[in-house]
Amino acid sequence: MPETEVVQRGLEDVVALESRICFIDGRQGRLIYRGYDIRELAEHSSFEEVAYLMWYGRLPTRAQLAELQNLLVSLRVLPKPVVELIERIPPESNPMEVLRTVVSAMALSEPGETKPGASSISGALRLTAALPTILGQFHRRRAHLPPLAPRPDLSHAGYLLYALLNREGTELEVRALDVALILHADHELNASTFAARITASTLSDLYSAITSAIGTLKGPLHGGANEQVMKLLDEIGTVDRVEAITQAKLAKHERIMGFGHRVYKVEDPRATILRRWSHKVGEAKQDLHYYDLLVRLQEVVHREKNLYPNVDLFSGSIYTQLGIPHDLFTPIFAVSRITGWTAHVLEEYDDLRLIRPKALYVGPTDLTYTEIGTRS
Ligand code: ACO
Repeated sequence: MPETEVVQRGLEDVVALESRICFIDGRQGRLIYRGYDIRELAEHSSFEEVAYLMWYGRLPTRAQLAELQNLLVSLRVLPKPVVELIERIPPESNPMEVLRTVVSAMALSEPGETKPGASSISGALRLTAALPTILGQFHRRRAHLPPLAPRPDLSHAGYLLYALLNREGTELEVRALDVALILHADHELNASTFAARITASTLSDLYSAITSAIGTLKGPLHGGANEQVMKLLDEIGTVDRVEAITQAKLAKHERIMGFGHRVYKVEDPRATILRRWSHKVGEAKQDLHYYDLLVRLQEVVHREKNLYPNVDLFSGSIYTQLGIPHDLFTPIFAVSRITGWTAHVLEEYDDLRLIRPKALYVGPTDLTYTEIGTRS
């Protein structure tokens, strides 16, 4: 092995491919989808509009958006074998494992779309439309309740809330969830998107790529952090305890979830927007308990470690106030990120190059095989 080989642990700062989907300016704290700043998208667009932008690379006209919305609505009904599968899943299962398993099983109902490298937006639409129904049906199953019929009259965010909670959200609640979905739609070559692109780069199919992505998002260093943030807030309990508990954790070199980012060196712009929504939703519910804890936590962690909030710091407080159970937070991330994942998989198919890095071998090379009976 040449001595000049350098290992970029975690592929940090390695530029692996070209993409037209998402740009992160980690120094300025800007996030751009297909040329549009997420601050504008979060202010003015809807999740469906952003999904169109992800897949087609441009904002839709009114007619194009209506067509996409109709398609998504029509695909909310799951194939019968998939419904039957959800009914057989043990109720105590981890919802991310359920999502991964059911998305994988969805492929069995769509054999035409799982040809190697089959490049089609229809698979992306089908999966995007199906995720709220899958989650909702599993969530009801574990409460021993019958599945709800999909509601064609609700937006994607409105339907997600309905499917999970069996109630229509207020305008503010639905908009809060819509904004959260917009903000999670893509984030360049994050670990789960990279996993999806690696799978697609072997000319495997979209469903396999998304199954890889869901398994990767499940990890607490990626998608699971907002759930951990809520656990920490509940452990802290009151604002006056934030300082001491945070200090104690940092002294033990524990990580405080919801802070730090591989790419952002300043505050994650998604956190800035979600902080405002956490406040808005808290105000509407007349309960700023979590918001106040988070703001104090943010002050202490910044002062002690010079770390800024990431997207996961405030999202959990919003979902909790909507009444969504903590173990559904990461699946909600997937409900949104599926648009980015699928856009990246389609982009990978269009400019395919097998992704296959190298390892620097640091083990021995000159051992001699010994018979099993002679080994100690
Ligand atoms: N709490 C305490 N210390 C931290 C944190 C944190 N959240 N994040 C980084 N640090 C410290 C590390 O301990 C390390 O300190 P050291 O140099 O004294 O050992 C230093 O900052 C650098 O940390 P790295 O792990 O090298 O930075 P990396 O770029 O790999 O980390 C990551 C990025 C994994 C997100 C990290 O900040 C982290 O673990 N955060 C908490 C988990 C989290 O919130 N994940 C969600 C990320 S956003 C997303 O995926 C949607």
